[in-house]
Amino acid sequence: MRVSPVEGFDPPALGEPYLLTPGPLTTSYAVKQAMLRDWGSWDGDFRAMTADLRRRLLALIGDTKSEYDCVPIQGSGSFCVEAMLGSFVPKDSKVLVLANGAYGLRAAQTMQYLGRAFTLIDKGDYLPPRGDEVGAALDADPAITHVLAIHCETSSGILNPVAEISEAVYARGRKLLVDSMSAFGAIPLEVGKIRYEAMVSSANKCIEGVPGFGFVIARKSELEKAKGNSHSLSLDIHAQWAAMEKTGQWRFTPPTHVVAAFLEALRMHEAEGGVAARGARYMKNRNVMVEGMRALGFETLLSDRWLSPIIVTFFCPSDGNFVFEHFYELMKGKGFIIYPGKLTVVDSFRVGCIGRMDEHVMRRVVEAARQSLAEMGVADAAPPQAALAERAKLAA
Ligand SMILES: Cc1ncc(COP(=O)(O)O)c(C=O)c1O
Repeated sequence: MRVSPVEGFDPPALGEPYLLTPGPLTTSYAVKQAMLRDWGSWDGDFRAMTADLRRRLLALIGDTKSEYDCVPIQGSGSFCVEAMLGSFVPKDSKVLVLANGAYGLRAAQTMQYLGRAFTLIDKGDYLPPRGDEVGAALDADPAITHVLAIHCETSSGILNPVAEISEAVYARGRKLLVDSMSAFGAIPLEVGKIRYEAMVSSANKCIEGVPGFGFVIARKSELEKAKGNSHSLSLDIHAQWAAMEKTGQWRFTPPTHVVAAFLEALRMHEAEGGVAARGARYMKNRNVMVEGMRALGFETLLSDRWLSPIIVTFFCPSDGNFVFEHFYELMKGKGFIIYPGKLTVVDSFRVGCIGRMDEHVMRRVVEAARQSLAEMGVADAAPPQAALAERAKLAA
């Protein structure tokens, strides 16, 4: 089905469906068009693009004292998380990994691969790690030097309380590393307000670029100290930083078209009004979509307090006629790609709020869900009692 244009936002090209997913996501024509030119990776024009990209990303963290620098890294987001852990955590250090979903657990698995000491607070599918328990874990284990927090745990959509975690970490003289993959660019992470040593994100999330690289923003003093730490040649952030500072080039083949697209996405981000405006659009997307879905009887996994404006988890309805795969295909036929859930206890699905779309699109998403339920013969989208009991744990 061809989705017609909405005010101010071009629809996906050639009748493609909107991606209601946490990245890759729906991008603008301008971003796609920016990929129609080839660039020489050694050429001065491309080096200027790399410098511009680094400058623009740094501007988003409000680093008024010039204490931080930005280092892009080829690959997907997981490559950057691995690069951050391998480069900033010395081989004889120990990391406290805060997990409440798939990405925290993946960070712990990365530590296992690195063969470096770590300990885990695993809160299950979606309970937030709180400052007081982080403080207690640090008090109990003086060997811990670093804490790794996930900003938005994309597997449930929970926005973790990084500010209180940061306070607990620095009150005990330890260091914080943040995986802000799905939050950066829409949720503030200003260094004047939240203290951290390094954070990572990637091109295909809230800046609305296409996949192909990620980036680390780190305190320069940590970048300097990172020399010789890395387990990996290609994921050595210090080496990438040192080479970029010296030559303006990426060490190994850069994803030139992706960089060009990302620069266009950064210009559009700025034109929209930066982090505040991007976050406000996503929040509006979420509010319109959640309100509409609740009116159909759907229930969110999380209470409003923990809902991020990035992606929302809904329980699958208990009605026997509801089959997620069928619902997915019906939604796709109406122009919207949704996302399966990642909870272990109850069935769920997710709807992303990020990408090149606005509240008008979200109203259509709700209407598509209403029609899809009717076509499946689902009279009521209410979840099973077990799901509500599970949710009650969060409130406890
Ligand atoms: C919080 C978080 N961390 C890490 C990743 C891994 O990124 P990738 O799938 O690009 O490797 C993701 C992906 O969505 C994420 O949301």
